[in-house]
Amino acid sequence: MKILVTGGAGYIGSHTCVELLDGGHDVVVYDNLCNANEGVLDRVEHITGKRPVFVRGDIRDAEAVEAALRQHACTAIIHFAGLKAVGESVEKPLMYYDNNVVGTMRVLEAAAKTGVRQFVFSSSATVYGEPKFLPFTEEHPTAAMNPYGKTKLAAEGMIEAFAVAVPTCKVALLRYFNPVGAHESGLIGEDPKGIPNNLMPYVTQVAAGRRTHLNVWGNDYDTPDGTGVRDYVHVVDLAKGHVRALDTMAEKGESLTVNLGTGKGYSVLEIVKAVEVASGKTIPTKIGPRRFGDLPAYWADTALAEKLLGWKAERDLAAMCRDSWNWQSKNPDGYV
Ligand code: NAD
Ligand code: UFG
Repeated sequence: MKILVTGGAGYIGSHTCVELLDGGHDVVVYDNLCNANEGVLDRVEHITGKRPVFVRGDIRDAEAVEAALRQHACTAIIHFAGLKAVGESVEKPLMYYDNNVVGTMRVLEAAAKTGVRQFVFSSSATVYGEPKFLPFTEEHPTAAMNPYGKTKLAAEGMIEAFAVAVPTCKVALLRYFNPVGAHESGLIGEDPKGIPNNLMPYVTQVAAGRRTHLNVWGNDYDTPDGTGVRDYVHVVDLAKGHVRALDTMAEKGESLTVNLGTGKGYSVLEIVKAVEVASGKTIPTKIGPRRFGDLPAYWADTALAEKLLGWKAERDLAAMCRDSWNWQSKNPDGYV
């Protein structure tokens, strides 16, 4: 299959390109590089022995997306491109709606015009909002709590409506839990600009001596050690989930909405301990106030992903921390 991967130069996108190329697919990366480095393509080529085609462009430019789809005769789209910082989405909501909702609409328009009928979308567990029950099943009510989450919900709704209107079009809405880790080669990984918002890159930067300590956002939650609990999933497992989603849509001719997580939750302090073990470094922590908008704890029900996709995360917390640290220590300044 020839697949247009929007946002394919980014963190999850680049790992998915590796799995697609290793699986014998052809890949066209479509990315404006607003949060990525073109050097990632060399690294993907180094790992797989194949170089993805690269088109530099913005997803909001429907004509350019359409031209890329036509020129390379793509038959499927995996749509990663978007903005993902929750705090920034509160400050700049219109920028988020423009990129994540209007951008998705443009990509769908291009799919409609070019006859592309397979579409995979990067959604997020954040669409569930406050847990009414745990683990989160796909039937859990959705109620995103911040502009970022609301753009994901709006995009999901638009994609579902598109699939109803164009019944030959099959869509996969993949709701990721907390992606961490890196390719085991240490050649590609997460490269946040500036101060990381997310826990794992922050912790590995402390281990590397780039930051003095981790601020733990709250230790008075109703969780075993009082710190926030999340379902961390290795990015390579997540990437494989995308390949399974494409294969499943092709095999069964069905659209799907599934969680991609491990089904297990770990606290902030458990992550700190696990990275200490993986890195052999001490990670100083300071307890700070709760971060606005954070939930105490959530994790995925993984039964549907197993049943529908035959997909189950295989890499455990030790592997996630080992690979995050391997990436961080081999690339102290990220992609340079
Ligand atoms: P990332 O920032 O590393 O990758 C996103 C890529 O999209 C980047 O390469 C960026 O340059 C590109 N991009 C952004 N806006 C674009 C535009 N308008 N036109 C073209 N390219 C554009 O992020 P990621 O962690 O790889 O996330 C990928 C997707 O998964 C995003 O949609 C994100 O919302 C979603 N997601 C991420 C997480 C997470 O914790 N990382 C969790 C749930 C969902
Ligand atoms: N945390 C800290 N200190 C930090 C960073 C995070 O204590 O410096 C804590 C948070 O309070 C939370 C946990 O670590 O308890 C995880 O926080 P992250 O910022 O790594 O991740 P979130 O669960 O807040 O959100 C992430 C992505 C969202 C995505 C969601 C899906 O950032 O985009 O996972 O579950 F939607």
